[in-house]
Amino acid sequence: MKETVLKALRQGGYVSGAELGKLLGVSRTAVWKCIRAFRCEGYLIDSSTAKGYLLVGAPDSLLPEEIKAELKTSCLGQKIVYHRRVASTQNAAKILAEEGASEGTTVVAETQTEGRGRIGRVWASPPGGIYLSVILRPDIRPSDVLRFPLIAGVAVAQAIELVTGIEPKLKWPNDIIVGGKKAGGILAEMSAEMDRVNYIIIGIGINVNTDKARFGRKSEWTATSLKEECGKEVPRAKLVQDILAQLESLYEDCKRFGFEPIRRKWKALSNTIGSQVSISIGKERLKGEAIDIDEEGALILRGENRTLHRIVAGDVRLIREE
Ligand code: BTN
Repeated sequence: MKETVLKALRQGGYVSGAELGKLLGVSRTAVWKCIRAFRCEGYLIDSSTAKGYLLVGAPDSLLPEEIKAELKTSCLGQKIVYHRRVASTQNAAKILAEEGASEGTTVVAETQTEGRGRIGRVWASPPGGIYLSVILRPDIRPSDVLRFPLIAGVAVAQAIELVTGIEPKLKWPNDIIVGGKKAGGILAEMSAEMDRVNYIIIGIGINVNTDKARFGRKSEWTATSLKEECGKEVPRAKLVQDILAQLESLYEDCKRFGFEPIRRKWKALSNTIGSQVSISIGKERLKGEAIDIDEEGALILRGENRTLHRIVAGDVRLIREE
């Protein structure tokens, strides 16, 4: 019902209560209650006894009806579970996946109280960001899962460029870098058997309209938001629409043409390949030149004595960052 009302209002101009009621097969009182609910969510809707209702402004929110209004996907985001506040969209998506939720089911939240990053880190999730988790059910081997944060990284970088004009860089395996600072990250988690993946949850966190003050002193020099970098508010629902569309398209391409075209795209967006890096893997630390990523998405490092290392997990720092 809400989606139909919004769609009608978005056409522009006044729409009468009677017209909306007819469209939905409900009474004018039911329409009025729906309009009242929209206003509570932050929509600005003018009403005139003679003309009906006029949509004047929509809130910058991640409400499903805002995302779905212009969503150009056939699978990802077709089912959206929305939370104003949740512990972690990743945990919520995991519960849904275990219950059998279909591929493409997407959990979004305005804030998270226990947002998780890679390597057990906390992901600060104040209002103004994008926090979403998408359930995928690819027919692949567990060893191919490493590709997914890279596919998602390319999707997010392309979507950010489309919406803001900013050209982000990717730091292996999953950091979204803007102006040399981290603006987002990706966490891919899976449930698998020995030879088969049950599901993958792609978690995406982006500092979009996040105020600088919310990063805290520790992150002042390492974190940024899209708003900080482009000097204006970024429409978050539009960015989510484009992320889902880019991710769906790359995911389909990967199924049809393999990982190679995406690997090339990732390398073109990367700030890691060709750089001197230091990689922490648990207590171990390796230094050298990041020379490539392989067909599974692992990082190839040329270390001391020109020894080649294949890295599947770790924390990469560009040496000039230290
Ligand atoms: C990283 O760079 O360490 C990855 C950060 C991933 C954060 C996202 S926000 C949505 C989803 N829910 C979480 O708890 N984590 C991911």
